[in-house]
Amino acid sequence: MSRQMHFGLFLLGTGSHIAGWRQPGAMDTFQDIEKVRQIAATAERGLFDLIFMGDNLNADPASHPSYTARLEPMTLLAAIAGATRHIGLGGTVSTTYADPFSVARAFASLDHISGGRAAWNAVTTSAPAAAANFGTQHPDHARRYERAGEFVDVVTGLWDCWADDAICADRASGVYIDPAKVRPLDHEGPFFKVKGPLNIGRSPQGHPIISQAGGSEPGQMLAARTADIVFAVVQDLAEAKAGYDSLKARLPAFGRHPDEVCVLPGVMPVVGRTAKEAREKLNDLMQFVDTSNALGMLSERFGHDMSAYALDGPIPDLPEADTYKSFTGVLLSKARRDGMSLRDLYNLVAAARGHWVLCGAAEEVADTLQQWFEAGAADGFNVMPPYFPGAFDDFVDLVIPILQERGLFRTAYEGATLRDLLGLKRPANPNF
Ligand SMILES: Cc1cc2nc3c(=O)[nH]c(=O)nc-3n(C[C@H](O)[C@H](O)[C@H](O)COP(=O)(O)O)c2cc1C
Repeated sequence: MSRQMHFGLFLLGTGSHIAGWRQPGAMDTFQDIEKVRQIAATAERGLFDLIFMGDNLNADPASHPSYTARLEPMTLLAAIAGATRHIGLGGTVSTTYADPFSVARAFASLDHISGGRAAWNAVTTSAPAAAANFGTQHPDHARRYERAGEFVDVVTGLWDCWADDAICADRASGVYIDPAKVRPLDHEGPFFKVKGPLNIGRSPQGHPIISQAGGSEPGQMLAARTADIVFAVVQDLAEAKAGYDSLKARLPAFGRHPDEVCVLPGVMPVVGRTAKEAREKLNDLMQFVDTSNALGMLSERFGHDMSAYALDGPIPDLPEADTYKSFTGVLLSKARRDGMSLRDLYNLVAAARGHWVLCGAAEEVADTLQQWFEAGAADGFNVMPPYFPGAFDDFVDLVIPILQERGLFRTAYEGATLRDLLGLKRPANPNF
């Protein structure tokens, strides 16, 4: 069968657009599990590979509403697991502010609960404001990635402490766990000291899927070594293709085949039955943008307070921030290419939090996704609806069928686990 696309749904209850919730009929909360279940049902109807829940560890009322008032990802994903059957369940947990034993345990649990559909988005946390909630200082970018590397190794090491058949529960002999099939980890490194084993048996996927979204040099190296999915920030096909190629080219050095990582650029689709209708929908959304909601987001993405600059002036020359490398690099490069003012940039960030906005008739949206996929710039896409449910329904009902007709997307779920959906092998356990 020819190569097919993969789709993730980036779930933010009030939508990816900063003020998507103001659209009449749009969902205006990220704290209502019943509504989230309905979105999950739509994602399964659309045969998506996974639902992805980001996370942050501080609340800033000036930021995106769904960054500020949100359900905790692991709790939410466990609740969705019971309401879905096929779709992968991805959630962010920070390598800077969590501990690897608890993370390994939580994702192994979610993998068992969901029958092999768990995915961990390992992020280093860019917002320095998180530190104050953990009684600590925010480590710098390089240090965050050093810790992340060791963190991921401890997590995967813990998942491998158990052989698949360690729990024998032999009623005749009375042996419940074969002691030869469980071993400690005995990890001691610069950041962590973890004895192990984990207190949960090896999970259906062996290793739950790991995703990564860092675009910096250490971010790409970590992804090339450890990630199954990479969420990319894109604004331009040629740049996205270069990023895709650069990431894939790094895999062989870690003994991995380039196909072992699935690259999903983020896209906010605004879909109409005609191009005009789509443009009107986007214009409606942009009317809700104002300095009170968009400047905070812009400052967050750039790691600098942007409220001091004139919106209709040029984009200021800012020193590189220690927060995100991915967003700043991609956005500044687009701004240069398109001769954007600070206001243009602010509109772009307000629209899709700095991700790519793809507005058009369903056929045009499908054409563009196909073009990127066939150009080798993506293995699929992380879909970021501006609001729910309407904008997501539009994508599922209007765009997915076109991609299916073209043989570019599945027409039924096949396989039991998220690894199966992504076409990724279950990792062997090197210990047994
Ligand atoms: C699609 C996508 C999702 C992300 N999700 C989160 C998240 O949930 N929480 C978070 O703190 N950072 C998140 N990030 C930020 C990155 O994981 C990373 O920490 C950040 O881009 C800084 O790394 P870099 O300098 O290597 O780009 C996300 C980034 C992207 C592109």
